[in-house]
Parts: sequence; C-alpha cells; structure tokens
Amino acid sequence: MIIAIDGPAAAGKGTLARRLAAEFNYAYLDTGSLYRAVGLGVLRAGFKADDVAAAVGVSANLDPALLGDPALREERTGDAASKVAAMPGVRANLLKFQRNFSVCPPGGKTGAVLDGRDIGTVVCPDANLKLYVTASADVRARRRFVELKDREPAVTYEQILADVQARDTRDMGRADAPLKPAEDALLLDTTELAIDAVFLRAVDLVKERL
Ligand code: C5P
Repeated sequence: MIIAIDGPAAAGKGTLARRLAAEFNYAYLDTGSLYRAVGLGVLRAGFKADDVAAAVGVSANLDPALLGDPALREERTGDAASKVAAMPGVRANLLKFQRNFSVCPPGGKTGAVLDGRDIGTVVCPDANLKLYVTASADVRARRRFVELKDREPAVTYEQILADVQARDTRDMGRADAPLKPAEDALLLDTTELAIDAVFLRAVDLVKERL
C-alpha cells in the first residue's frame, strides 16, 4: 500500500500522514525534510540557497545528521528548501531514495505513507491512494505561526503569511515537478475541517483500498 499526500506548506499533510502511518503500521517519510536538509546544508556551508552547484553537491551526498538537526524546522530553512527544490539536479538526486522507500518500506512494513509536493505526480504515480490536502493561505499561516511562536519569538504572523505565499508561488510555478494535485488525487480542504475529521475520512479511504 502506497499512500501519497501532497499539498502546500502547513496544510496539515504531515499530521495526517503521521497519523495514518501509525494507524495502519506503515512507514512514514516526510519528503520535505530531505529538501530542508539540502537547504540547511547549503546555508551551513556558507552558500546562498540559490547556489545551484552547492545545492546539487549537498544533495548528492546528503549528510544524515542534517535530518535530525533542530534547525530543520526553522522558517529560513523552509525558505531555503523551496529554493533548492526548484533545481532539477537536486530533485533527481533525491528521487531514488524516495522511490526506494515507497516500494521497500523500512522495517519490513507492508505500506508507506509519503508526504510532499510531487508524490502523487512524480515520485509515486502508481500510489494506491493519493490525497491533496490544502487550506487557505491565511489559515495555514496562522497554524504555522502558532507552531513557531515559542521557538522563534521574533517571527510575526505577517512574515509567516508572506513566506507561505512566496513558497506557494515558487512551489507551484517551478518547471520541474510543480506542486499540483495529481489527476486521480482526492482533494481534502482543511480550512474549515478539523484534522480529526480529515483523518477519519482518510482512514475510510485507505480501508476501501485494502
Ligand atoms: O513540506 P515542507 O514545508 O517541509 O517542504 C519544504 C520545501 O521542500 C517545500 O516548500 C518544497 O519546495 C520542497 N518540497 C518539494 N517536494 C517535496 C517535498 C518538499 O519540492 N516532495
């Protein structure tokens, strides 16, 4: 069973994917963390996030320690991630790992849940279930703000909203694997739907496919 969950930043994909993986005992891969690790690696090495040679180099030999780095979740890392994610060389380097994870989930699990931007369209076009989770930019920025305000007290709601919108534009507008719903994806709008309701709906959809 391969479950592909795509959608824009802070739409609730991660929470949904984690809960589904726990419910069915499937492996979970947050593919955004791979792009974040590349972005962080580039910044740490002293380059700008839009330096293609640096980003391709970091992604070719991704240091696993970066995946556990607390700075991975910072706002500036998300911004850098969306810049390196527009580079075809970076995407190509990360694709194989994601495909392997989906077809051979670690720990001998019988299924995998992957969340990101291009899972249903590029990484796992044959996924058994494809969900596209979205919400208004305002609601997503509010959620991200609540999540970040204790860790990054200097960050304002307006900044987060501007960042969410900039990331949407970049992720949807890039030439390689842009963010868009796969043709056979089911749309779940979490603007007014609580995550519990979305989760229960998704559980039913998985059961239908088992
Ligand atoms: O989901 P998250 O906010 O952690 O993703 C960070 C960035 O990584 C996104 O803005 C997007 O540009 C990129 N990404 C991607 N493809 C994926 C997952 C994430 O391009 N499958």
